[in-house]
Amino acid sequence: MTHPFYITTPIYYVNDVPHIGHAYTTIAADVLARFYRLRGNDVFFLTGLDEHGQKVQQAATKANIAPQAHCDQLTPQFKNLWKTLMMSHDGFIRTTDSQHQTVVQQFLQTLYDKGLIYQAEYTGWYCTFDERFWTEKDVEGGLCPDCKRPIEQLSESNYFFRMSHYQDRLKAHIQNHPEFIRPASRRNEVLGFLEKPLEDLSISRPKSRLSWGIELPFDSAYVTYVWFDALTNYISALDYLPSSPSRNRYWPATVHLVGKDILTTHAVYWSTMLMALELALPHTIFAHGWWTVNGEKMSKSRGNVVNPNAVVDEFGVDAFRYFLLREVPFGQDGDYSQEALIGRNNSDLANGLGNLLSRTVTLIQRFASGQIPAPVRSTEDEHDRELHAAAEALLQTTLPYHLNPERLEFNRTLEAIWALVQLGNQYIDKTAPWVLAKDPANQERLQTVLYNAAETLRFLCLATAAFMPATAQNMNEQLGLSLNFSHSLLAQKITWGELPVGTTVRKGQSLFPRIEATTRNKEKHIVEQKVEAVKRESKEGTKEEAHKDQANQTGEEQIAIEDFMKVKLKVGKVLEAERVPKSNKLLKLQVDLGSERRQIVAGIGKKYEPEELIGQTIVVVANLKPAKLMGVESQGMVLAAGGKEVLGLLTINEDTAPGSQVK
Ligand code: MSP
Repeated sequence: MTHPFYITTPIYYVNDVPHIGHAYTTIAADVLARFYRLRGNDVFFLTGLDEHGQKVQQAATKANIAPQAHCDQLTPQFKNLWKTLMMSHDGFIRTTDSQHQTVVQQFLQTLYDKGLIYQAEYTGWYCTFDERFWTEKDVEGGLCPDCKRPIEQLSESNYFFRMSHYQDRLKAHIQNHPEFIRPASRRNEVLGFLEKPLEDLSISRPKSRLSWGIELPFDSAYVTYVWFDALTNYISALDYLPSSPSRNRYWPATVHLVGKDILTTHAVYWSTMLMALELALPHTIFAHGWWTVNGEKMSKSRGNVVNPNAVVDEFGVDAFRYFLLREVPFGQDGDYSQEALIGRNNSDLANGLGNLLSRTVTLIQRFASGQIPAPVRSTEDEHDRELHAAAEALLQTTLPYHLNPERLEFNRTLEAIWALVQLGNQYIDKTAPWVLAKDPANQERLQTVLYNAAETLRFLCLATAAFMPATAQNMNEQLGLSLNFSHSLLAQKITWGELPVGTTVRKGQSLFPRIEATTRNKEKHIVEQKVEAVKRESKEGTKEEAHKDQANQTGEEQIAIEDFMKVKLKVGKVLEAERVPKSNKLLKLQVDLGSERRQIVAGIGKKYEPEELIGQTIVVVANLKPAKLMGVESQGMVLAAGGKEVLGLLTINEDTAPGSQVK
């Protein structure tokens, strides 16, 4: 029943602090681990650190400390980041662990004893950065074909693994197992690579050149090549990191997640090593794309390396997790920018999911005394059936399909989840519970609508749990659901209508605060407003005089078009609405103006219930000086017909983007 599901990330070099690339793979692995645990699988999720080799030795030398001390210093940076990002790994391996080193030496000895490792003199072009030799035909202009750094000719005696023996077997395996290397385009690349003769692999480094590594068990003058050491982690970890040795339980791995740059080492080196060791091959090796930053390659020298800690501090862990997996298909390259993240946060998260939760809880509090009401089936219509069918299909079909290790369509999964978010919001707009509440004859329908909105959120809680664990927990609490996400909640079919009636909802903090373009921009905006205000005040005297002369024949004062154009009217969408305490006239609105969110206090409380306004597209005076009304700041004004008595709010029926100009 509980199939073992073994998922790994690459083990990261400890030559520097972790960046967005490391976070990306680890987050993807975490989503899978959480999802398959929810499905009832026996998951082992492994991550860790690659501590040996030239890169780490060089970094330690630069820092003027011993390599082991250097690794010990950097390890907490990774471990702490994984905590911050809510990683749920079951094992964290360090290649300096003695148990790991033992397995590496066992593997080397086994291959040596079988005659699959031999010693030979080798002359070739060596790239220090990539720690590998290249053949004459690979090299162009003295530069490494991979990293384009200068390379040097080196001649040395080394040990070689007879990788070439396995070329045909590997080719056949890839051809017969389309699921082995994913996505398909990467599989083709590997097959292309295997068209050329596969050479034997140098798996040793003379200690005179590199001492920081695992010694060859059969020649103490050498350490092993860092990739032989590192790849072995996927198996050695199973011997000592689970509570009992579990090599037989979890091997072969379900999926190795790797970046596209390290696909060859996995698909070719690792696979042939496993063949030689007579071990099974992993089920799937999935190569994801790379992130650029604002359209540029990320690098230390450019100074544009994205620190995941800083992103989480500013935007929250789930916005980051969501963005990385939503923005680009997992196998393709993507571009990271703060603007894109803010855009997703504001539109998908705040206006989408956050809004759906907050309005549902508010409506239940207002019209059902804060308790999830019993639905009355006889009042159901096609809107309810559509919601019901979409929610069940999402959990039962869509998620398992896209999150199959051979597909890993995280972005499609999130798109599908957000289609339900949208449907939920549209459902509330269409059914308009605030209108139903006005007529007691609609009481039963109102109950059904409120129940269904909350039931949609229960499905969304379950659907988002693997992607956004903090958010799912927050929703769980606000809806009073008491879902325990450490249980295999998705092992059984989730059926519409199982949401318990009578549960008390609790309004909590908004899931995703809307983010202004940047805080700096916001501050700039305020300063600009103040400057404008001062300018306006200084001109006031002269303007008044001028206006006196401009009355028309009906006695109404006329203004020039330039004067009218000074009023910046914009389309706004009401996201939240509540009464200002102790006032029967004032409502406090949170309004989406596209690039920003404004709080606007409007004297329309006698005409409207707050709930009626949520989701309405209105017209806002966007460049009005902020003012305080009954102690509450108002950052604009809404337009409404009427004088002292409000007759009606100006709304727009067309689907118009918040922030659009009105003139
Ligand atoms: N230590 C090896 C892996 C050994 S696995 C047996 C290694 N480490 S690494 O720290 O250099 O890179 C780890 C991962 O980070 C790789 O999968 C790589 O693709 C990924 N990324 C590094 N920069 C990246 C981006 N800019 N974008 C996405 N992933 C990137 O290689």
